Amino acid sequence: MSRETHFRHILHPSPTPADVRAEKLVDPGFGRVFTDHMITVRWSEGQGWHDAEIRAREPFSLDPASAVLHYAQEIFEGLKAYRHGNGVALFRPERNARRFQDSAERLAMPPVPESLFLGAVEEIVRIDRDWIPGGEGSLYLRPFQFATEIFLGVKPASEYLFVVIASPVGAYFKGGKKAVTVWLSDTYTRAAPGGTGAAKCGGNYAASLVAQAEASRQGCDQVVFLDAAERKWVEELGGMNVFFVFDDGSISTPPLTGTILPGVTRDSILTLARAEGRAVREERYSIDQWRADAASGRLRECFACGTAAVVSPIGKIKSTKGDFVIGEGDGGPITDKLKAKLVGIQRGEIADEHGWVRKVL
Ligand SMILES: Cc1ncc(COP(=O)(O)O)c(C=O)c1O
Repeated sequence: MSRETHFRHILHPSPTPADVRAEKLVDPGFGRVFTDHMITVRWSEGQGWHDAEIRAREPFSLDPASAVLHYAQEIFEGLKAYRHGNGVALFRPERNARRFQDSAERLAMPPVPESLFLGAVEEIVRIDRDWIPGGEGSLYLRPFQFATEIFLGVKPASEYLFVVIASPVGAYFKGGKKAVTVWLSDTYTRAAPGGTGAAKCGGNYAASLVAQAEASRQGCDQVVFLDAAERKWVEELGGMNVFFVFDDGSISTPPLTGTILPGVTRDSILTLARAEGRAVREERYSIDQWRADAASGRLRECFACGTAAVVSPIGKIKSTKGDFVIGEGDGGPITDKLKAKLVGIQRGEIADEHGWVRKVL
């Protein structure tokens, strides 16, 4: 497929009327409201990527023997489009394109070329631009790729579909409360060395749901996982990376050793913190140290970060071995400052010194 992909337009014959759309955008929540269109691109052996289309969002027809339904050969991405005045911008979409390719490689799937990935997300943003909420909202883009070959043999499939859908979103955590509470799972782990932890594949999330359900039963917003080998090192949350802020102003986050997702937000926070002269470490941090540092006051703040919820202070950790609180349990100034800087750049309100903002319109 050429560098500049042409998407065949088969636009929605009766798109959502403006007044209905406006009503849906008042309080969209997260991942429940969708725009009128979707992108689809097919891949098959011999033909490669072909039939790039933007068309009305509608259900797929899937054969019951489609490979994805049996062996979960599926990957996805998540990124947002923001209103910038009268224009629209994406935040570091090239990073998502690259991670999508890395995930594809891990799941033995053909990678989507970066130009096709970027062309697809930009096309749907252009066509469905009226669905981008103003204020604190944004348009969450969900590219995904899955095996469509009709075959029950266990092997990499010979046919795939690449799809992009779009969903106007508001705040991720209901109630928009300030600090979240996390449940430390000592029953379940998320990813083992050599596994798929660094890939954004649906299977990782399927495996995390029982732990997330346990967290919910404990009254927590999210689950936090320890490493699978020693059950000692803090890895990440079910859907977010984690940061620690110390009394000397330094920050640390677990290193990318293959079992955690290399978050775009994580990388952006590291870059922003370094740029303001802060000491930054990517190092292993044990659960015992976490508990001890919270008790001694050496650990001042703690936060989770990811595209969906951006930056969320972690106020309290609950576990079978007792609970502990970070600082006053309601976040802190360094978390707030890093968040404000990141959100400001994403929304075009602070100068983009790192070349992260990609204007679409
Ligand atoms: C397991 C996990 N960790 C971390 C993140 C954060 O990644 P990003 O900042 O790229 O959204 C996500 C996804 O959003 C995730 O699902």
